Amino acid sequence: MARGRQIYEGKAKILYEGPEAGTIIQYFKDDATAGNGAKSGIITGKGVLNNRISEYLMLRLKEINIPTHFIRRLNMREQLVREVEIIPLEVVVRNVVAGSLAKRFGLDEGARLPRALIEFYYKNDALNDPLVSDEHIITFNWAYPHDLDEISALSLRVNDFLTGLFAGIGITLVDFKLEFGRYWEGDEMRIVLADEISPDNCRLWDSRTNEKLDKDRFRRDMGKVEEAYQEVARRLGILPESGNGENMTSEGML
Ligand SMILES: Nc1ncnc2c1ncn2[C@@H]1O[C@H](COP(=O)(O)OP(=O)(O)OP(=O)(O)O)[C@@H](O)[C@H]1O
Ligand SMILES: [Mg+2]
Repeated sequence: MARGRQIYEGKAKILYEGPEAGTIIQYFKDDATAGNGAKSGIITGKGVLNNRISEYLMLRLKEINIPTHFIRRLNMREQLVREVEIIPLEVVVRNVVAGSLAKRFGLDEGARLPRALIEFYYKNDALNDPLVSDEHIITFNWAYPHDLDEISALSLRVNDFLTGLFAGIGITLVDFKLEFGRYWEGDEMRIVLADEISPDNCRLWDSRTNEKLDKDRFRRDMGKVEEAYQEVARRLGILPESGNGENMTSEGML
C-alpha cells in the first residue's frame, strides 16, 4: 500500500498519511528510549514484535467492544489506524507497585495494590510528562469531565481484560500506559484507544519467577531485551512469520 507524506517521527514510531482521509499508518521502529530520551538505543526486532503484539491486543479488545483506532496490520512494521486527535494524557493503570510509584511513595517494588490505581500524566516531553490530577485536566481543558469518566472506565475494562489474558499465559500485568484520541462522526465525538499496547508501555512479569519481560530490561540494562519481547509474543501465540524479507536475525532486520 502506498503510504503518504510523513506526518511525525516519534521515539518509537513514524506516522505517515494513510491511503484514505482520516487514516494514518504507524511504522514501528526498533529505536528505544528511556527516561524521556536520556537513554537511547536499538532493540533489534522490537518494531516487528510491537506491531504484532499491539495488533493482537487491540483486536482482542475490539472483541469485548473497546473502541480502538486499529484498522489492520499492513506488513511487518506497519499498521493502518484511524487518525485521531490525541488527548494529551498518558493514562497509567497499575496493579502492582513498580517504577515511579515505588520511588514517589517509597514503596517496595512488587507489592500488590489493593485495587487498580489510575494515574494521569500530562503528555509533554519538555515538561517530563508531569503527574496531574482530574482537576488539572478539567481546568486546562485537556478533556471534559464526562470524557475523563469514559477514559477511566475504558482503562479499567482494558485492565481487567488484559490482566486475565496475561494471567492465562503466565504473566502478571503489573502496569501499563494508554493513550486515547478523539474523532468526530458528524456531530458526535468519539473516544478511542490509540497508540500501541506492547512491552514498551506495559510492565509484564513472569508470574512464577517475577522475571521482567518488558522495557525495564532496557531501562535497567538487564540484557536479553529482544528475547523478553519475543517471549511475550511467543506466549501470546503470535511470533512473526518469517520469509518475507525480514526475519528475526540481526542481519535481516532493517
Ligand atoms: N491514531 C492516532 N492518530 C494520531 N496520532 C496518534 C495515533 N496513535 C498514536 N498517535 C501518536 O503518534 C505518536 C507515535 O509515535 P511515538 O510513540 O514514537 O511517539 P513518542 O516518541 O512516544 O512521543 P510522543 O508520544 O511524546 O509524541 C505519538 O505522539 C502518539 O500520541
Ligand atoms: Mg509513544
